[in-house]
Amino acid sequence: MRHFRSLLVTGGAGFIGSNFIRYLFKQADFTGKVINADKLTYAGNLENLAEIDKEFGAKGRQRYFFHPVDICDFGAVEEIFLKYQVDAIVHFAAESHVDRSIHGPTDFIRTNIVGTFTLLEAARKYWEGKQGVLFHHISTDEVYGSLGDTGYFYEETPYDPRSPYSASKASADHLVNAYFHTYKLPVTVSNCSNNYGPYQFPEKLIPLMILNAVEGKALPVYGDGMNVRDWLYVEDHCSAIYSIIRAGRIGETYNIGGENEQPNITIVNKICETLEELYPVKENTFIWEAGNKSDGYKSLITYVGDRPGHDRRYAINCDKIKKELGWKPSVSFVDGLKETVRWYLNNREWIENVRSGDYKKWIEKNYRKR
Ligand code: NAD
Ligand code: TYD
Repeated sequence: MRHFRSLLVTGGAGFIGSNFIRYLFKQADFTGKVINADKLTYAGNLENLAEIDKEFGAKGRQRYFFHPVDICDFGAVEEIFLKYQVDAIVHFAAESHVDRSIHGPTDFIRTNIVGTFTLLEAARKYWEGKQGVLFHHISTDEVYGSLGDTGYFYEETPYDPRSPYSASKASADHLVNAYFHTYKLPVTVSNCSNNYGPYQFPEKLIPLMILNAVEGKALPVYGDGMNVRDWLYVEDHCSAIYSIIRAGRIGETYNIGGENEQPNITIVNKICETLEELYPVKENTFIWEAGNKSDGYKSLITYVGDRPGHDRRYAINCDKIKKELGWKPSVSFVDGLKETVRWYLNNREWIENVRSGDYKKWIEKNYRKR
């Protein structure tokens, strides 16, 4: 079992990264420090880690450090390596939304490809001849392309990315594997299916639909709603990553998934049903006070034009991580969705802040000025 003393998490202020940092500090056998390097784009929000900062940050037990760093900036990355003697990287930082990559791919190429390359170069420089170090790269099942009605993505499935987002992630994966083969850099890679859970930026399917429904807005389903995704609760992704960094075989790729394939329209219907249970439309002040007497959340479902090049189906086989590392998804979709809907219902301030950009002010007030 590997143990790390100084773990650099890139993109730790984003959705999965912040959940991962929170998860790490709950693990009794993790006693090291965490350095969160994040550029704080629209998707990065330190509010996600306020409790961690309080308990483990500068005024707490001093095991959590934040640096507002662009991973494409070699000098800044180098400083972190030197200052903290980093012995592991868990690399989340990325531009992560397919729709945004279609409207403007530039940042995706820069952060996802050049940023990964920059981190690899820093690791190569500082870890030469070092034992017990690890570069873990977080990737997506979207690199494998699109499936028909049957079949699964395996670790050996040839890459066939089809959106600017998945192409940039595929490029990054190839670079990481190239550094293993060429320079013997100790790497592991994981390719995960769609995540959902608390702190996800409300541009992705599940939080967008929850918030639109709560506010009585249209629920925009792309195309015929029959595109299929495999959904994994974010904490299960975190536990999979933790098992890989401790015990995964060096140079290997591990697929991670929820064994939970569903068409988009089924997901949207389940969101509506869960909301009806937790916040019945008749008690919904957004809908009722606005005079919008919706006859139920499902009546808000609206089919809209399809996403260009919309991948039809993703389905992932995760037997390898189950067999080798004993990991398996533990949160059922019913429970995970209920937890997620409840979280978005109870965190209106967070929602207002991320939507309005006011969380930037929150960061100024709570972070930069101390
Ligand atoms: P996110 O968009 O919520 O967060 C990304 C984080 O990276 C943000 O905090 C952002 O500020 C930071 N960042 C962006 N550019 C940066 C740069 N140049 N330098 C430093 N920081 C930068 O993304 P997420 O959903 O948490 O995804 C995290 C990782 O997991 C990504 O690599 C993504 O490709 C991968 N992934 C995501 C999913 C999913 O369903 N969300 C599924 C599989 C894999
Ligand atoms: P998304 O959450 O953007 O993740 P990804 O594209 O990486 O899978 O979208 C999940 C699915 O939901 C995808 O098939 C596109 C679809 N979708 C909609 O139908 N409407 C929406 O408003 C969004 C954001 C996504």
